Amino acid sequence: MDQSLNYNYKIVKQFAVATVVWGVIGMLVGVIIAAQLAWPALNLDIPWLTYGRLRPLHTNAVIFAFGICGLFATSYYVVQRTCQVRLFSDKLAAFTFWGWQAVILCAVVSLPMGFTRGKEYAELEWPISILIAVVWISYAIVFFGTIVKRKVKHIYVANWFFGGYILAVTILHVVQGAVMPASFTKSYSAYTGVQDAMIQWWYGHNAVGFILTAGYLGMVYYFIPKQAERPVYSYRLSIVHFWALIFTYMWAGPHHLHYTALPDWTQSIGMVFSLVLLAPSWGGMINGIMTLSGAWHKLRTDPILKFMIVSLSFYGIATFEGPMMSIKTINSLSHYTDWTVAHVHAGALGWVGFITMGSIYYILPRIAGQTKMYSTRLVDVHFWVATIGVVLYIAAMWIAGVMQGLMWRAVNPDGTLTYTFVEGVKATYPYYVVRVGGGLLYLAGMCVMAYNTYMTVRGTKVPVARIPELNAAHA
Ligand code: HEM
Ligand code: HEM
Repeated sequence: MDQSLNYNYKIVKQFAVATVVWGVIGMLVGVIIAAQLAWPALNLDIPWLTYGRLRPLHTNAVIFAFGICGLFATSYYVVQRTCQVRLFSDKLAAFTFWGWQAVILCAVVSLPMGFTRGKEYAELEWPISILIAVVWISYAIVFFGTIVKRKVKHIYVANWFFGGYILAVTILHVVQGAVMPASFTKSYSAYTGVQDAMIQWWYGHNAVGFILTAGYLGMVYYFIPKQAERPVYSYRLSIVHFWALIFTYMWAGPHHLHYTALPDWTQSIGMVFSLVLLAPSWGGMINGIMTLSGAWHKLRTDPILKFMIVSLSFYGIATFEGPMMSIKTINSLSHYTDWTVAHVHAGALGWVGFITMGSIYYILPRIAGQTKMYSTRLVDVHFWVATIGVVLYIAAMWIAGVMQGLMWRAVNPDGTLTYTFVEGVKATYPYYVVRVGGGLLYLAGMCVMAYNTYMTVRGTKVPVARIPELNAAHA
């Protein structure tokens, strides 16, 4: 049969399954490092298992393996369905899959061995960084090539968000990745001193803004209306908040560098833009939640919709908390404490994790030729176990973080510190144990998803979804 009449579901299936597999692995490493913080002896005196090496392995596995495989799967699905054409190039799409898995495997090997650029979220050494650039440019060609050959005049808003994320990551990766190689496994940054710090957090914050936010908003705008069977609440709001969001994010990076050698005015600009960011962020959240108007009753019976709507609530929490933490006086309390870690995981577990899980649950049966997941009951179990897990994790870290900040700044009337540092560490211990519990629940939920995924896709052939028929049915 002429392939050009079908959607390419094979690539979507590969990335969807990879999302689930890497989710389990990345979260397992998260639980291990959480346990090491409570019981440091768990590094077993083996260099490869020390916290300093496993921590970047966790962040790379959850963001670049779980998170970005989810974005590949959903963006390839959405761009085909909304443009009503097959992907621009099957071969290049297949290259993005195998190339990206190669990047992840290089990370899994090189990080525990201790090879790192020492830049948060950009730890991978220059040869891997070049591979990332090649795969990413191929991704951009497949995605934008599909947009160019679309059969529908209009470019649906989800594609604006996916497109914004793909373009921004290209720029961030190239600018931040400028290094001078010293050997195959070691390089030095092209920037020095305070410029180096500024470039790093311009990159770091926009990784949050474009990977952990814009990409997932692409999911919001396609999968929530689909699952709720309602149109997007306000199309106009979606466009306004798209432009406001991408413009504002670019300037907020200095809030990671308050009270440093960075010029004071730069820090203030970062703070002001972070406060402004509350508006477009909540614009997106409200637009997503209001899409459920008239369909709220569906939440009683549809666990996939529950994942999606609860993810928006966590998005609202993280994007309220972030602007508050960017106020310099508040940051003087929160910085260096576990409050930051609570904020990160409200975003990561609640927002990024839940919207990815909901969207992948939507896609899986469709690309396996089924009408629904193997077990809807297990999707519900996953939802509740994971929700309790997130709440335990972030509540424990919020309390621990504020407590640490207050203990560190407490002074006696004679000006000496009230608490030694180790007293703060001791007081944090119970909260670290609670976090391990929350993490274990979240991981258990992910394992349930892996089982449900296996049972849904096993033995099924990728369906041949012909474009003209499906136009009428779901496009
Ligand atoms: C079972 C689930 C998880 C557990 C138990 C867990 C645990 C942890 C721990 C213990 C840390 C180190 C905190 C520190 O340095 O004090 C951490 C850092 C981090 N995790 Fe997770 N994590 C989980 C899932 C995730 C997911 C799904 C994501 C992203 C989608 C994520 C993103 C991050 C990031 C970005 C950091 C670095 C935070 C910072 O530098 O402030 N985590 N995680
Ligand atoms: C309006 C939106 C947001 C603003 C203004 C904001 C602001 C902030 C601030 C002020 C910090 C602490 C910086 C420090 O003291 O070092 C921070 C850390 C962080 N935020 Fe947000 N945040 C926002 C949304 C989000 C979302 C949705 C996520 C998604 C997961 C997220 C992920 C992170 C991460 C990973 C860090 C830790 C970076 C690090 O030190 O490694 N943020 N954010």
